Amino acid sequence: MPLLKALGGTSDILPEETQRWIAIEEAARRIFALYGYREIRTPLIEEAAVFTSSLGEAAEIVTKQMYLFEDRGGRTVALRPEGTASAVRAFNEQGLDKRGGLTRWYYLGPMFRAERPQAGRRRQFHQIGAEVFGSASPFQDVELLLLLTRLLSAWKVEGWALHLNSLGCRADRANIRQLVAEKLSLQCDRLCKDCQVRLTKNPLRILDCKQKPCQEASRGIDVTEAICSACRDHLKQVIGALSDLQVPYERDPHLVRGLDYYTRTCFEVIHSGLGAQDALGGGGRYDDLVEQMGGSSVPAIGFAVGAERLLMVRKETGSVAASGLTPNVFVATVEAADIPRAIHAAECLREKGIAVCANLEDRPLKRQMEQASKLGCRFVLMQGESEKTKGVMALKDMEARTQQELPQSTWLATLEELLAP
Ligand code: HAM
Repeated sequence: MPLLKALGGTSDILPEETQRWIAIEEAARRIFALYGYREIRTPLIEEAAVFTSSLGEAAEIVTKQMYLFEDRGGRTVALRPEGTASAVRAFNEQGLDKRGGLTRWYYLGPMFRAERPQAGRRRQFHQIGAEVFGSASPFQDVELLLLLTRLLSAWKVEGWALHLNSLGCRADRANIRQLVAEKLSLQCDRLCKDCQVRLTKNPLRILDCKQKPCQEASRGIDVTEAICSACRDHLKQVIGALSDLQVPYERDPHLVRGLDYYTRTCFEVIHSGLGAQDALGGGGRYDDLVEQMGGSSVPAIGFAVGAERLLMVRKETGSVAASGLTPNVFVATVEAADIPRAIHAAECLREKGIAVCANLEDRPLKRQMEQASKLGCRFVLMQGESEKTKGVMALKDMEARTQQELPQSTWLATLEELLAP
């Protein structure tokens, strides 16, 4: 049988890397808790309608990137391409839309999009995201952005830029489309083939086309020229408070995001170290989505950061492995008959919360010592014939290159003391 491999655009996260993942996840959990967010875990599969009814029929995620299949009951099911729609589905399903007050959720987990894989673009990738339901206040936007910037600093990301824009309310959308279409139809010939089609179907998408002529043609367009005065006020308050709080941001009048549910504030965190896929994270308000998905009218805002992209730009400091629980003690055996007792000794240590590996093979002591040093164990514990007769355990300190004998009755307490932080 030929060697089986992971699907393109998916990958294993091997033990050498998981410590880096755990480090970012732990930092995220700590920061989210500081802001009163609680974790939600939604299913990886949902009825496809959860996404088709929310992300927008023309959104690329829906038209090209969703993993869809029919389950045995004939339902069309999708692997979740993002977390917001699932969160809204859960929010409504639990009746939280009727309860009032604030709901603050965060999530960490895999998402699936059938994109052409390249650096920073995976078919299975992971997002760390947050959603807040129940506040229309511009200060909610500001607090969410503060949370995002605090996460970036806890993750030791430098060199990011926060791009900010407003997409107005639902009523403004037609005006924005018209503004963009009018300004660009004069230069239709300069646009790439895709954008010429977009001009009638979805002109906003032209603003984030990566083709140079399209970028040049759309230079100078500011979508906020077409938004209503209430939305303009909202933006003004967000910007004012961000400046007061010294949160660095850049107004980006071209930022439109790829999903239809956004209203008012939208933003992206850009990092030049990411190359072509330069968005480290993104989000915004979606004040109509809860109602659009069958709930009451509840305003909401959120963001998601791509974990793979985060790990690409994060400045690593110190030994990452050291932050995990790695074995400190190796229990060696002189002969195979001692293995059950070595397992017992290891269990006694684990009971005390000490990470330990025991020799389980019939092999020479030399090989065992090599394994102990490969694992980075500081201590090797064993009981040869002479130790057995004396009723002691031998403890080798690999760092200090010393050896001592510990009485049966106290070896555990002594090791615990030696390994105390
Ligand atoms: P998004 O901009 O589609 O937003 O994705 C957020 C982040 O996920 C991106 O900035 C990127 O870092 C990462 N990402 C997206 N696609 C891929 C991929 N194929 N491979 C690797 N990383 C990827 C959302 O998903 C919204 N749900 C965010 C949000 C939450 N808006 C409001 N609340």
